[in-house]
Amino acid sequence: MGFTVAIDGPAAAGKGTISKAVAAHFGFAHLDTGLLYRATGRRMLDGLEAVEAAEALTAEDLERDGLRSAEAARAASQVAAIPEVRKALLDFQRAFARRYGGAVLDGRDIGTVICPEAEVKLFVTASDPVRAQRRFDELIASGVETTFDEVLADLKDRDRRDSARASAPLKPAEDAHLLDTTDLGIEAAVEAAVTVVKQRLEQGR
Ligand code: CDP
Repeated sequence: MGFTVAIDGPAAAGKGTISKAVAAHFGFAHLDTGLLYRATGRRMLDGLEAVEAAEALTAEDLERDGLRSAEAARAASQVAAIPEVRKALLDFQRAFARRYGGAVLDGRDIGTVICPEAEVKLFVTASDPVRAQRRFDELIASGVETTFDEVLADLKDRDRRDSARASAPLKPAEDAHLLDTTDLGIEAAVEAAVTVVKQRLEQGR
């Protein structure tokens, strides 16, 4: 039986951490869909045309170094605004969402476009400064030299582009549960998400 948990939200809101923990808790598979766009953006920076890059994406592309960099994130949000790029990545995400045994997908348009029939939809947010601080800490821990202001500006710029684009813009699905993690630690945020999924699983019995 398929069971899909769609987790959307802006950059560095905590989607990745929550998704991994929810998947581990319920034994579901997890797909970080941002990686598909980051890998496509990375190949565009290598000189490939964006749509061709998306159409020819391989498993190895998703394992390349540097996909977490600010440069790759910026390129990702540029290619993500191209409808043909989104179309090229659609079938893979839909098939993953309906795989046997349950799946968690995190991204920007999972609950609205990729899987509008998802059993659970969460929209994870946090204030701009809190999100920027989290991403800043992550980048510093991985050895990147940057400043808080630079990270904040990058994040706002990307959110603006992701929300304003015509094709699958970042926005909560009408039936999404909103989860604001501004004042929540990782454990509390994960617990809140797990509770929502548990309730839905119990309903389905
Ligand atoms: O980790 P973070 O939230 O910073 O970014 P990400 O989830 O890896 O996504 C990188 C970029 O890919 C986003 O800024 C979006 O432009 C794009 N993206 C998208 O358009 N749709 C998705 N389902 C996932 C990511």
